[in-house]
Amino acid sequence: MENFKYFTPTKIYFGKDSINNLTDILSLFGKNILITYGGGSIKKIGLYDKVKSLLKDKNIYELSGIEPNPKYNPSVLDGVKICKDKKIDVVLSVGGGSVLDCSKAICAGACYDGDPWDLITYKAPVKKALPLVDIITLAATGSEYDNGAVISRTETNDKMGFCSDLLFPYASIIDPVYTFTVSPYQTAAGAIDAINHVMEAYFAEKHSTLMDGMSEACIKSIIKYTPIALKNPNDYNARAEIMLSATLACNGILSLGNSSSGWPMHAIEHALSAYFDITHGVGLGIIAPRWMKYILSDKTINRFVSFGTHVFDIDSSLSKEEIAKETICKVYDIFASFNIPMTLTEVGIKESDLKEIAHHIAINEGLDKAWASLNENDILNILKDCL
Ligand code: NZQ
Ligand code: ZN
Repeated sequence: MENFKYFTPTKIYFGKDSINNLTDILSLFGKNILITYGGGSIKKIGLYDKVKSLLKDKNIYELSGIEPNPKYNPSVLDGVKICKDKKIDVVLSVGGGSVLDCSKAICAGACYDGDPWDLITYKAPVKKALPLVDIITLAATGSEYDNGAVISRTETNDKMGFCSDLLFPYASIIDPVYTFTVSPYQTAAGAIDAINHVMEAYFAEKHSTLMDGMSEACIKSIIKYTPIALKNPNDYNARAEIMLSATLACNGILSLGNSSSGWPMHAIEHALSAYFDITHGVGLGIIAPRWMKYILSDKTINRFVSFGTHVFDIDSSLSKEEIAKETICKVYDIFASFNIPMTLTEVGIKESDLKEIAHHIAINEGLDKAWASLNENDILNILKDCL
């Protein structure tokens, strides 16, 4: 087992009506609050009105229209400007992972004198950030319980992830009821994203029995409850299981002591959504089975055997090769059963696009140093297999 540092200061308020804690939470900070949100889903579900009524004694400013795959320009820059001009004391993010990631970048940028892109690209360290509270409305990224944010810059086709312990939300309100209205497409994409976070940690060289067991249980919960939520979107227990699993999946708690895999599927997907603005979880669903097929080797096969026999109960008396192949088929079939696109062609990406993307990934993501190392040609081959 590797040495590790583990730190998560975020207070979690989980369950029905946990929004009733919002006033107490925000009373710890000053009166000037920036509420951030996306394209309007929070208005349709009545959450916007509820938040406004709870905060009627505060000075409220708003940043709306934050898009999926949140953009540096205008969203992050506009948010930073409001924070500086209005002397914002705390940011309240209300929405999915994109709104929350954008809010994290805003909190850091608001306390920095230079161009906030310096922080996102690690040219400058985050030394200070405004406090952040969130009400998360989609089970997917786990951003509500981690210290990372992923921001896109359209003009350079960059989608950059950055982390700082100062970016953990102070508190996250996680009420599964708010996810009842998430579309089947986004529900499926969120489930695949959360499963993939666990897989990125699981398919690594060093791991422990404890982390394997917790990770397998997390994935099993999502696989069991996603079809139930897709069939009956208002099933509280199914939504709660998925949401708790997604919250834990990206926080690092499921990989304590593991060695790093290099997060190859995310590295490849982030480039796809940077170039084509596709939904993150859908991109991962397309890449994952093809990546698994490509990296299967004598070096990696034992991880496939462990995953397949524990997550899918594949017969352990089969040969390792048979178990590995069946594991890959299971992953494909489960994602496909969620009724999302399973090829790049279906999301509008053509073979002629792939060379540039593979090059972009190879020079920016360091996958040649990943556990299952990939050079530019390997990445191109995986992408071609996804067509
Ligand atoms: O914009 P609105 O109107 O709110 O609609 C959103 C959006 O269109 C909608 N939605 C959200 N909650 C809803 C709802 N619709 C109905 N009812 C609700 N309760 O869903 C759409 C997608 O929202 P988005 O926030 O983009 O989805 P998600 O939470 O999956 O976030 C994806 C982003 O997070 C990044 C991804 O790369 C992508 O940019 N990630 C962030 C990570 C992190 N911070 O740790 C890790 C992940 O690996 C990931 O990279
Ligand atoms: Zn992800």
